Amino acid sequence: MADSRETLTKKTFVTGFPVKHSRSPLIHNFWIKQFQIDGLYEAVERSPQNFPSFLESLKPSDRTYVGGNVTIPHKESAYRLADRPDEVADELGAANTIWVEDGLIHATNTDGFGFVSNLDDRHRGWDNTNKAVVLGAGGASRAVIQALRNRGIAEIHVVNRTVERAQELADRFGQTVHAHAMDALIEVSNGCGLFVNTTSLGMDGTEAPFIDFSPLDANAVVTDIVYVPLKTPILKMAEQQGFATVDGLGMLLHQARPGFETWFGRKPEVTEDLRSLIIADMEGHA
Ligand code: ATR
Repeated sequence: MADSRETLTKKTFVTGFPVKHSRSPLIHNFWIKQFQIDGLYEAVERSPQNFPSFLESLKPSDRTYVGGNVTIPHKESAYRLADRPDEVADELGAANTIWVEDGLIHATNTDGFGFVSNLDDRHRGWDNTNKAVVLGAGGASRAVIQALRNRGIAEIHVVNRTVERAQELADRFGQTVHAHAMDALIEVSNGCGLFVNTTSLGMDGTEAPFIDFSPLDANAVVTDIVYVPLKTPILKMAEQQGFATVDGLGMLLHQARPGFETWFGRKPEVTEDLRSLIIADMEGHA
């Protein structure tokens, strides 16, 4: 008997714990509507305890979902439990995008792609430098460092409150990455063409300590992966000191593109309309 389910709506998901804050449903359903696809993207909350059985449930032929996104705190488990993680996920030890093929879970990580695509989109030529400084050494920092190294940035200085975590990243990503404690920030910023904040400093209206950006190259770009608020205290400070800035919202939008293309076979774009939709949601009136 032919499988009538093949003709049913293609379903995709984001899972996290909690997941209701996720803006991924807004992004993917915007594209689904734009392409007039018979598809759906929904938020599915799973606790860490229930996440493995959820992943397992994707494999059988009933195929409720064709794939989805995985967010905090499941990114590491998704990588570990996937049957076919790709090279990017392998190096990061974390996955944010999965899909099912022949009953196997494939996994990748598109955060780094989102990060560089946002810079390409908002400040073409940002990569015309061989030195970058990355503040922070958490999970988000890893994807940023990997993407910068893969883009060919020759010297990446990771500065972190806990220097051991920065050192772990330098060990993981090879000789282009150098670890430093906070007190080295000014010194290592010297001549850098890119400054990236990957810490939670300034998130959700919290204060951020003063940062002196003057040692950066005069044409440097300052970016923050925090996007709530859109103009973070760090971006404000950089702007006041005369530097070009790129906000972090585009990283969220661009990281969604490869997953959508894999699940639905269409190449979505990040447009001003999509950006406005997410901004309206952030402001509470989407
Ligand atoms: P994520 O996975 O989102 O990157 P994380 O792993 O908790 O989150 O990392 C948060 C980053 O913000 C870390 O680099 C953290 O520094 P430590 O490794 O020393 O904890 C940094 N961070 C958070 N609060 C900070 C603060 N008040 N001052 C300096 N760095 C801070």
